[in-house]
Amino acid sequence: MAFQKDFLWGGAIAASQADGAYDKGKKGLDTQDLRYFDANWDKEQRTVNRNINMTSERFEEALNAQENTHYPFRWAIDFYDNYKEDLALFEELGLNVFRTSISWSRIFPNGDDETPNQEGIQFYVDLFSECKKRGMKVFATILHYNIPVNLVTKYGGWKNRQTIDFYVKYARTLFKHLGNLVDYWLPFNEINCARFNPYNGCCLIKDQEEDYDSAIFQCTHHQFLANALTVEAAHEMLPGSMLGGMIARFTTYPATPKPEDVMQAVLDENYKNYFYLDVMAHGEYPSYTKRMFKDLNITIKIEDGDTEILKKGKVDFIAFSYYMSMVATTDTTHEKTSANLVTGNKNPYLKTSEWGWQIDPIGLRITLNDMYDRYRLPLFIAENGLGATDIVEDDKVHDDYRINYLREHVRQMDEAIQDGVDLIGYTMWGIIDIVSCGTIEMSKRYGVIYVDRDEEGNGTNRRIKKDSFTWYQKCINSNGADIE
Ligand code: BG6
Repeated sequence: MAFQKDFLWGGAIAASQADGAYDKGKKGLDTQDLRYFDANWDKEQRTVNRNINMTSERFEEALNAQENTHYPFRWAIDFYDNYKEDLALFEELGLNVFRTSISWSRIFPNGDDETPNQEGIQFYVDLFSECKKRGMKVFATILHYNIPVNLVTKYGGWKNRQTIDFYVKYARTLFKHLGNLVDYWLPFNEINCARFNPYNGCCLIKDQEEDYDSAIFQCTHHQFLANALTVEAAHEMLPGSMLGGMIARFTTYPATPKPEDVMQAVLDENYKNYFYLDVMAHGEYPSYTKRMFKDLNITIKIEDGDTEILKKGKVDFIAFSYYMSMVATTDTTHEKTSANLVTGNKNPYLKTSEWGWQIDPIGLRITLNDMYDRYRLPLFIAENGLGATDIVEDDKVHDDYRINYLREHVRQMDEAIQDGVDLIGYTMWGIIDIVSCGTIEMSKRYGVIYVDRDEEGNGTNRRIKKDSFTWYQKCINSNGADIE
């Protein structure tokens, strides 16, 4: 077996998709609490709405909403009140690392508060201490999309440089109070998401922007600075700490050997994936930036001193989510299919999930080799998994489809390690069913633990172990050897 003895086998969730309790513990309202969902939407409407579901009108409506049914992130699976029971199940599963995110608005309810909310800090001290007690390392995402609403309404969110200062103050507060409990830090979840789902990634509302695309990259520039300053702060406050840079990885193959398609694949890889990691790992904008900004018609403001900031805050490891691969071509009539955050070109050699995402385990080995070769930094698969509709029969969920998906991906991780890749951990996405981030529905489930709750919040919220629970437990106990 290729997995080293201390390989990190884990599970991942994010605060807004799991916690609920949006108004408990003095938490302030955040941008994900405002995302609207209608259970009557059909599959196509859900997919379309994932990228356009925030408008000024919806934002206003959500701020004044009297009921929460249409706002699933407000209740989610109530991990906030159930975390002890859930962590007990994770311990039984054998997880040795747990990834979750911290809600900025639990720590600073308005984002610009003078002092942090002690109740919020205490929640994370308790949660992470419980992880430690149960033998799990903590992998904490500092920002997984949900920023305090006040920072958007009062300051314009990430467009405003002041948000960098608020963010760094928040991160420093976490280092001070939680530094002894967290093993791996991730300043930003999927920093390239800003380009593909700008409301989630950088809280922009399209109808408020004159030059939407430039605004996206201006926000990203500010996030790069916030990232670098945070890495620098962590290295100073917590010597030896491990800070990661993360993207949603859209592994891309040329659709044909035609040089035009191959070139398009190079551009897609650079513009959609590597650009972001190049900045965070190398500490500077890559050589193709000027060309890329010209191609995409982007103008951003970079101030004196920014270059130095980026240089001083290089990440210690590379993290990424991997769900599917896609195809690049200059042929605009190429058949399309849905993918994480985006719509992509279809690969005729791959099967898709119910949501159209192209399942490609070998693509994971390709990705791991590529990324390790390019950055020579430890790699962490921060997300991977299969969103599917599960059926409960006699208190059981027979999810062979999920087991097959996971097994094939673990096999390719093994291969990649044998190729020489320094892969340190794997946190399976949505280890327990949570609200889908893209389509905001409960019926797209990833977990090895089922949660009895539907789209509108109905159900007992009871947890049920799926067949994949036993499979993953075996996989972890044997350190990846027993995966049949
Ligand atoms: C990633 C996000 O992009 O994909 C997660 O970091 C998200 O928050 C995951 O849940 C899967 O996407 P979805 O839309 O199926 O929930």
